[in-house]
Amino acid sequence: MINEPFFSLAQIDEVAAVVRARTRYQPRVGLILGSGLGSLADSIELSDIIPYADLPHWPTSTVWGHTGQLVIGTLEGQAALVMQGRVHFYEGYSMAQVTLPVRVMQRLGIEILIVTNAAGAIHPDFAPGDLMLITDHLNMIGMSGINPLIGPNDPALGQRFPDMSQAYDRALGELARQAARQRNVILREGVYVGLSGPAFETPADLRFLRMAGADAVGMSTVPEVTVARHGGMRVLGISGISNKANLDGNTLTSHEEVLEAGRLMVPGLEKIIRGVLRGL
Ligand code: HPA
Repeated sequence: MINEPFFSLAQIDEVAAVVRARTRYQPRVGLILGSGLGSLADSIELSDIIPYADLPHWPTSTVWGHTGQLVIGTLEGQAALVMQGRVHFYEGYSMAQVTLPVRVMQRLGIEILIVTNAAGAIHPDFAPGDLMLITDHLNMIGMSGINPLIGPNDPALGQRFPDMSQAYDRALGELARQAARQRNVILREGVYVGLSGPAFETPADLRFLRMAGADAVGMSTVPEVTVARHGGMRVLGISGISNKANLDGNTLTSHEEVLEAGRLMVPGLEKIIRGVLRGL
């Protein structure tokens, strides 16, 4: 069903019950893998695999570069639930559908969400292949009235007006910095701006976003993080910079480029995530 307006607690719990029945693990950490970053799921040990098609209400991605399955197992001794592939608002799914997986994680008792994405560099010093710790986000898609929390608020899931002053957990960010330092991975830091896409930005869009304080731009993450915070989860976000956003109007951006850069960033990203998990 496309564009389902919102899910009830009972529907969310229906999905969570199917996941529980299909895995021997009680995951503490949820991990969302962005475009080109899906191969990180191959590092999960002794995993239980659940294709998205087996889950009621669960949206399946139409975008090439996103596998559709849950991989539940251990990494660095932590039980983790990994989403190998996510859906985006631009695919025509409602915000409720885009964020259903995070709600299910919440109801499964997951306390920590690690979210990754592919993003275009707006900061002039950032280049393809860089990893960026997301210190904050600019919710442009929300400012235009598209927020996953619009609709009835079930107090069992979170409060009506959730605080977003520390959307990205400071202690988890510090663990990521330490992990990167210890493993000689360069980790940039900055503000991620979330847009709807699917068209990439014009040079004028990008100059505007730069003035507004954005360092990297993408088409995901912000809705999931909003719901995770509403649900009381702690969030770590890392962007893989896949391309230079086209501020000067002289370079073209393609999805192929985004996927290729993603593959190159997986080893560094894996080192950081392993370090964070070990430090929990
Ligand atoms: N813009 C928006 N989203 C993106 C980009 C970009 O340049 N690269 C990867 N995702």
